Amino acid sequence: MPAVRIGICGLGTVGSGTVNVMARNCEEIAARCGRPVDIVQVGARRDNPDCDMTALHVTREIFDVANNPDVDVLVELIGGTTVARELVLTAIANGKHVVTANKALIAEHGNELFAAAADKGVTIAYEAAVAGGIPIIKSLREGLVGNRIQWLAGIINGTGNYILTEMREKGRSFDEALAQAQALGYAEADPTFDVEGIDAAHKLVIMASLAFGMPLAFDKVFTEGISGVAREDIQYADELGYRIKHLGIARRTNDGVELRVHPTLIPQRRLIANVNGVMNAVLVNGDAVGPTLYYGAGAGAEATASAVIADIVDVARTLNVRPDQRVPLAGVTQASQSNLDD
Ligand code: HSE
Repeated sequence: MPAVRIGICGLGTVGSGTVNVMARNCEEIAARCGRPVDIVQVGARRDNPDCDMTALHVTREIFDVANNPDVDVLVELIGGTTVARELVLTAIANGKHVVTANKALIAEHGNELFAAAADKGVTIAYEAAVAGGIPIIKSLREGLVGNRIQWLAGIINGTGNYILTEMREKGRSFDEALAQAQALGYAEADPTFDVEGIDAAHKLVIMASLAFGMPLAFDKVFTEGISGVAREDIQYADELGYRIKHLGIARRTNDGVELRVHPTLIPQRRLIANVNGVMNAVLVNGDAVGPTLYYGAGAGAEATASAVIADIVDVARTLNVRPDQRVPLAGVTQASQSNLDD
């Protein structure tokens, strides 16, 4: 069986993690795909000392990757929404499947991108866009698909949870903890997205689109971050038997789906109150299964690479079958009419 040919755009934290894990686990990955998976080109503005560049064919022009006829699957890891949107649309127009870790791109432009992908019969896979290494997209799209989801709630920003944990456990200041999260590669290029709740709002709408079969509705999310949380707030919460956690919540109501992200007081005895550091946790309540809980690293190079590679393998498997036998992975079901439209 010929190799699946991958082009990676972006060689930052997640890009280098993906290259490293693919090199380390290449045998397992090939066995699971039923064929080798080769990185044939990498588009990156600069080299990254965190990964071995010697075997990589690097171009500084990322659009070369989207236009390269030898690339079957484009892996978009550049972040941002402007160039990334153009890059993904170019790849789709050229008949390539796309794997992305870019939650802002999916949350803000997913409706357009999924339509373009459907027209071309290609897939956009985005497991890595939500909750780092936790396979929450697959759980919502596959494992829980027989349920009517009542609500989901979770800690879905690793940087924010890391900051709150460091402030509580080590008495660090907000700024110190944020600087540490940046040094560890958890934070977004613009950390405002992490601390003002925007990153969590992106992830929430992606999960909600799958859980409730609704369009991506980023502009409908009530969004409040953790930048207003002081050490004293955390201390007082502790004394009263609570933890402050930043939650994303999507809930079915009689009037539609409520979407909100904000700091929340949670009784200390609750499992989710004890999710610390960069870890994420998502609770999903389905009518048949009841409450379920998903836990794992929400950010970081290799945890996120784990999800990127899961998508690469998924897409590679669909390449083994005829196009008319493929089940699209893009995931957003036909937009059911929702009162979020008003
Ligand atoms: N900045 C994000 C976070 C990265 O801290 O959760 C993973 O999406």
